[in-house]
Amino acid sequence: MDMPEKLNEGIDSWNTVMLLYHSALKEVGTKLEILNDEFQHVHQYNPIEYIKSRIKTPESIVKKLRRNGYESTIDNMVNYVNDIAGIRIVCSFTSDIYRMADMIGKQNDLTVVWVKDYFKNPKDSGYKSYHMLVTVPIFLSDRVVDTKVEIQIRTIAMDFWASLEHKIYYKFEGNAPDYISEDLKECADIVSMLDAKMLSLNKAILEAKKAEQ
Ligand code: GTP
Ligand code: MG
Repeated sequence: MDMPEKLNEGIDSWNTVMLLYHSALKEVGTKLEILNDEFQHVHQYNPIEYIKSRIKTPESIVKKLRRNGYESTIDNMVNYVNDIAGIRIVCSFTSDIYRMADMIGKQNDLTVVWVKDYFKNPKDSGYKSYHMLVTVPIFLSDRVVDTKVEIQIRTIAMDFWASLEHKIYYKFEGNAPDYISEDLKECADIVSMLDAKMLSLNKAILEAKKAEQ
């Protein structure tokens, strides 16, 4: 049986949109690898521990549209869901976060749409991370489409906290008892202390090595 024309069109544009987001993740991922390699080459040091990327599932795209009061259409998802393509950059030290953000901001072909600095302004949960919404031009055969990618930059210690906190949050469907939220907040403070201590330790090691030379 032939697909009704309307549905066919819908699926066609869904596939095109998904192709764009997948391509955008590839483009930004490659850029980040190049920046990391260049940094290694110049400073003998990798600011990135690892990178994770993901495309939002259709179920969670629809859920987010519904939560924000939008109908499930392709136009709405492109316009209102900013994190369909997401990249998480996990760094060793807090100083690497701003270094990465700065390098990303200087890439000529990326446009930074907005920045949310939950490092300077942590969330009530204790969450600390640096978020950027960027667009990257995707060159198709007949046109160029600026495509959105949400970038999250955080330390490895904060990534550990955030993934556990996320699981707990889901277990309680967002209504964790107060004592659990308080304990998680305390853990976030410990993570910040650990990050600060590791950073100063790293500084001391670098200075000691310099003095040796
Ligand atoms: P979302 O609807 O979740 O995208 O939130 P938002 O549009 O208000 O944006 P926000 O910058 O608050 O959060 C974007 C993403 O950051 C989330 O999808 C999570 O991946 C992450 N995030 C934000 N807050 C928290 C938090 O308190 N805990 C954890 N574990 N992750 C968080
Ligand atoms: Mg999100």
